Amino acid sequence: MIKAAITAVQGALPDYVLTNEELSTMVDTTDEWIMTRIGIKERRILRDPDKATSDIAAAAVEKLLAKTNTRPEEIDFLICATVTPDMVFPATANIICDKAGLVNAFSFDMNAACSGFLFALTTAARYIESGMYKKAIVVGAEKMSAIVDYTDRATCPIFGDGAGAVLLEPSTEGFGFIDSILKVDGSGRKHLHQKAGGSLKPPTHDTIANREHYIYQEGQSVFKFAVSRMADVSAELMQRNNLTAKDLSWLVPHQANMRIIEATARRIELPMDKVMVNIHKYGNTTAATIPLCLWDWESQLKKGDNLILAAFGAGFTWAAVYIKWAYDYSV
Ligand code: UT7
Repeated sequence: MIKAAITAVQGALPDYVLTNEELSTMVDTTDEWIMTRIGIKERRILRDPDKATSDIAAAAVEKLLAKTNTRPEEIDFLICATVTPDMVFPATANIICDKAGLVNAFSFDMNAACSGFLFALTTAARYIESGMYKKAIVVGAEKMSAIVDYTDRATCPIFGDGAGAVLLEPSTEGFGFIDSILKVDGSGRKHLHQKAGGSLKPPTHDTIANREHYIYQEGQSVFKFAVSRMADVSAELMQRNNLTAKDLSWLVPHQANMRIIEATARRIELPMDKVMVNIHKYGNTTAATIPLCLWDWESQLKKGDNLILAAFGAGFTWAAVYIKWAYDYSV
C-alpha cells in the first residue's frame, strides 16, 4: 500500500525584519502588548515592490530541489496554498512552476487560508497514493504585507511574509501521511475577510479610500472559534487513530497566537516542549506557518515520529493531519 511521505522540507523568508519596536513607531502599540497578547517579536517583510508571493515560493522550491538533488523536470505536480496570490488569475502555482523550471508539472492554487497547507497536503497525498504520480511539491506561501493595513494596530502586528515547501513521494514502508480531518464553515467569513477586490466588490476609488482591500478581522470572535475548533479537530484525529499524548513526538500548530497554541496543547495534554513554536520570529505567515515549523525542526525529526499538524483560519477553515515522519535528517 502506497503512502505519501514528506521526504524534504525547505523554507524561504524575505530578509527585512520588522520588529515590534519599529511597529510601535507606526501605530499606537508596544512590544509588551504584542508579546503578551500574541507572542510575536518580529516578522519578515518582502519590501521589493517588484517581488510577489511566487518569488518567495520559487526560492523555497529551488532550494528544496537543490537539497534533494531533484531536477525540476522530475516534479509531476505542485499545489500552492495561498491567500495572497500574485494576481487574481492565473494561479500563483503556475507562476512558481515557470520561475522554478517545473516544466512537466501541472499545478493549481488552493485557498483555505491558514488551513491551506493542510488542505493542499491532503489533496497531494491522495494523488501520490493513487500511484499515478511520483514527485509532488506542496508549498504554502504568502506576501501578507500586501494586504495588511499598517495603520490598523489590531491586525498589523500579526502577519508576516514567507514560504515553506515539502517534497512528497511514494513510500511503501508505512511512513508518511496517515489521516486527516478537514472542516469548513463559510458562515464564519463575516469575521475575517478582505472586503473588496473580488467579484462581490470589484476595486474602485471608493473601496481603496475606505481601505477595503486590506484584511478585516474581528479578532475576539476569530480567537474563540480558533481555540475550540483547532483543539477539537486535533483531539478527534488522535482519538480515531488511537493516539494519546504519549504517542506524539510533536504537535505542529498554525502560528496565529501563542494563546491559541497553548490552549490546543493543553486540550490534548501535550507538554509545550513537544510543540513547535516559531511565531515569535515570523508572526502569522498564514499558509506558510506549518511548513516553516517543519523546516525549523527538520534536523530534530526522526523516522517514525508521530506528528499532528493542526490549523484554523479564515473561511472558517480548520484541519488536522496525522503524519508518521519518514526520514532521519542528514546534511
Ligand atoms: O490566522 C488566522 C486566524 N486568526 C486568528 O487566529 C487571530 C485570533 N485573534 C487573536 O489572536 C486576537 O484576538 C488578537 C491578537 C487579534 C487581538 O487580541 P485580543 O486579546 O483579542 O485583543 P482585543 O481585540 O480584545 O483588544 C483588547 C484591547 C483593546 O483596547 P480596549 O478596547 O480594551 O481599550 C484594543 O483596542 O487591546 C487594544 N489593542 C491594542 N493595544 C495595543 C488592539 N490591538 C492593540 C495593539 N497594541 N496592537
